[in-house]
Amino acid sequence: MKHLPIAILGSGKGSNCRAILERIRSGDLAAETRLVVSDALDAPILDIAREFGVANVYLPPGRFRTRLEPAVEEQLVRMLRDAGVELVVLAGFMRVLHEPTLKAFPRRIINIHPSLLPKFPGIESWKQAFVAGETVTGCTVHYVEEQIDHGRILAQKEVTILPNDTAESLHARIQILEHELYPAVIADFCKRYNEASQQNGGWPDK
Ligand code: GRF
Repeated sequence: MKHLPIAILGSGKGSNCRAILERIRSGDLAAETRLVVSDALDAPILDIAREFGVANVYLPPGRFRTRLEPAVEEQLVRMLRDAGVELVVLAGFMRVLHEPTLKAFPRRIINIHPSLLPKFPGIESWKQAFVAGETVTGCTVHYVEEQIDHGRILAQKEVTILPNDTAESLHARIQILEHELYPAVIADFCKRYNEASQQNGGWPDK
């Protein structure tokens, strides 16, 4: 079994990164994390990468708030390519990726979002669902495309909103499911990567 070379990009606490690295370490997930990248110098996700002995990089984002400076994004693409990355996994990465990355990794960038997309794109989606009085919300793994939180949906898990929930308790339950869903979707990419390399074909398929 060939291991799928991945990179994980995040800006924050890195609980999804941890869940993925744990699954890889336990042998459940045939992936190999070549790089963890963060745009935040003090992000715990970088400590998690160090704890697991994974190469990690702080990427100073430049002068914009929601995107990487174009030269920085080019630098990111070079780093990912040099590391031989085949799948880019966004796990709480707070920068919108643009053409250089999207073009370099078509249908090879995925993201996890804490709502049942297309409902509640944007930030603090669990809070949006809670305030809207929904009875069910959840999490979604999707391809990353130019329009934020709009790429093709790969998988979802539902969470029931309980009468005594707070936004925080709801978020905590969504995250537990995220930690199951994201490795499962990556496992599917690993399978397709292996099948494609045996047939010498391209991947992922449409
Ligand atoms: C997750 O809730 C994910 O859905 C969203 O950002 C959060 C990242 O959490 N995109 P963590 O850093 O993996 O704990």
